[in-house]
Amino acid sequence: MRISKRAERIEPFYVMEVAKAASTLAREVAHTDRPMIFLNIGEPDFTAPPLVQEAAARAVRAGATQYTQATGLDHLRERISGWYRDRFGVEVPARRIVITAGASAALQLACLALIEAGDEMLLPDPSYPCNRHFVSAADGRAVLVPTTAAERFQLSAAKVEAAWTERTRGVLLASPSNPTGTSIAPDELRRIHEVVSKRGGITLVDEIYLGLSYDDAYGHTALAIDDQVISINSFSKYFNMTGWRLGWLVVPDALVPVVERLAQNLFICASTVSQHAALACFEPESIAEYERRRAEFKARRDWFIPQLDALGLKVPVVPDGAFYAWADCSSFGEKLGIANSWDFAFEAMKQAHVAITPGRDFGSAETSRFVRFSTASSMAHLQESVQRLRAWAAAAVAA
Ligand SMILES: Cc1ncc(COP(=O)(O)O)c(C=O)c1O
Repeated sequence: MRISKRAERIEPFYVMEVAKAASTLAREVAHTDRPMIFLNIGEPDFTAPPLVQEAAARAVRAGATQYTQATGLDHLRERISGWYRDRFGVEVPARRIVITAGASAALQLACLALIEAGDEMLLPDPSYPCNRHFVSAADGRAVLVPTTAAERFQLSAAKVEAAWTERTRGVLLASPSNPTGTSIAPDELRRIHEVVSKRGGITLVDEIYLGLSYDDAYGHTALAIDDQVISINSFSKYFNMTGWRLGWLVVPDALVPVVERLAQNLFICASTVSQHAALACFEPESIAEYERRRAEFKARRDWFIPQLDALGLKVPVVPDGAFYAWADCSSFGEKLGIANSWDFAFEAMKQAHVAITPGRDFGSAETSRFVRFSTASSMAHLQESVQRLRAWAAAAVAA
């Protein structure tokens, strides 16, 4: 069968190979004293809080399960608008908010609405692999611009200016980022947006981890900069609703009917039950629970990062958000005769029964030296992982 060039351009998700191997090994070691610990998974270990669960059950019982309008329930758009006002002090009119099937659908809609065949989008290297694939799926070309620890693994205005060509359509950033958990400083983001707008380009910011910020210097939405910035968000991370497939995007007024038309045709609407459930996310009781969980994520970060550093798995920039640690495994690996982060991830899985993600999927700039740990696992799991990694290193060095 002839496969489209578009589909062929989408690279395989190498991480899935690690995940598959981890699941196979996990079954073998399930009943030993060292069952597999999964630090490779980028989703919260919490589920939706009680009010959200009850709202979903109520919607099902009441038969509120028909399609909604393509832009989503008005009440939910208003609640999200209220969240921007109360939490971030930014006025985002509900009419500019479009509810989607997760950030994934939001990214897809934004790319399809704005990218012509051959257009180039600038993304930082490393970055979340699917983001470059959304660009490819719209027949655009993702141009990965290498970043360094000194740059917090983010693009700067100077870099965007230097990388801009006549084919460039805009930037696709993520702040806080996956895999690094680092954000762009608000002033730098403002300067990036200036560079982009001067050239008639688009600034697309994936803010899926916005709610999970631990540093007041960074926890601001890009929507505060200008109403032309496009922001992507989701109920997956801060709101702990990964499998409910619900997110949103905020677009300039002129783009609302365009995105609406695309959404009508491609998805009809996001899950109605999930939309009714999500209304309860913004109740004071739910927000209090989310904030308690955010404090737990921060506590995990505060404990885990120094432990990795002490093991020789240096985390060059302390993440200010999300739940990841982007660690340089080269010196740890060198001691054990391991050549790169891909092999390191497999060895950690086999020797310590700790599943982590090698850097490879996230780009090519130094990614062979880096692995991503997810701190979306319990503190007990993080502590046990550190003990096992330490024991593995000690045994290998002694041998
Ligand atoms: C940076 C980033 N963007 C988008 C997504 C997709 O999330 P969703 O579950 O909302 O589709 C993820 C998921 O891990 C992510 O890390």
